[in-house]
Amino acid sequence: MKKVIIQGSSRSNGHTNQVAKLIQKELECDLIDLKNYQIGQFDYDFKNRQDDFLPLIRKITDYDLIMFLTPVYWYSMSGLMKIFFDRITDCLKIEKETGYRLRGKYMTAISCGSEKKATEGFFVPFELSAQYLGMLYLGDLHTWIEKDKPDQEVIHSVQRFIQQLTKAIKNAQV
Ligand SMILES: Cc1cc2nc3c(=O)[nH]c(=O)nc-3n(C[C@H](O)[C@H](O)[C@H](O)COP(=O)(O)O)c2cc1C
Repeated sequence: MKKVIIQGSSRSNGHTNQVAKLIQKELECDLIDLKNYQIGQFDYDFKNRQDDFLPLIRKITDYDLIMFLTPVYWYSMSGLMKIFFDRITDCLKIEKETGYRLRGKYMTAISCGSEKKATEGFFVPFELSAQYLGMLYLGDLHTWIEKDKPDQEVIHSVQRFIQQLTKAIKNAQV
C-alpha cells in the first residue's frame, strides 16, 4: 500500500512539518509539500490548466492512502490546502479520468495549530470532500505546537492515531 502526506503549510520546515516527521516515524510514507508546486486558484475557464496541479494530482492518484496535513490558519485549513481542494474541481470537469482514480482511496486529515483545542467543524470539508469523491474517510487528528516542539501528549496522540489508522485499513481490506 502506497501512502503519502500532502503538506499544506506556508513554510516547508515549520511546525506542520514537525508533525509530518512524527507521522513518518510511525508510518512509511512519502511527503508532498504543496509549497514546492505552482498551483493557481480554481478558474472557471481552466486558465491554470498548464500549472503544476494536474501532473501533481495524477501522481497522487498512484497512492492508496492520502493524508492531508495542514496548519490551522484562522480556524480553517491553510489557503494553500484550500486552493488544492478547489482545483480538484478540474478533475471533475476537464480531466474526469483522474477524478475517477480517487475513488476507493483512503483519506485522512491532520491539523496543526498553536492551541490544543480543536476548531469545531474543522474537518467537515475533508470528510464531505472524501464522500463526494468516493474516497473512504478514515478520521482525523488535531495536533498543536505551543512553543517550538510537539509535547509528549501530541507525540502519543500521533502514535495512537497511526495505530488506529493501520488497524482501520486492515479491517477495511478484509
Ligand atoms: C495566518 C495564521 C493564522 C493562524 N490561525 C490560527 C488559528 O486560528 N488557531 C490556532 O490554533 N493557531 C493559529 N495559528 C498558529 C498556527 O496554526 C500554528 O503556529 C501552526 O503550528 C503553524 O504551522 P506552520 O509552522 O506549518 O505554519 C495561525 C498562524 C498563522 C500564520
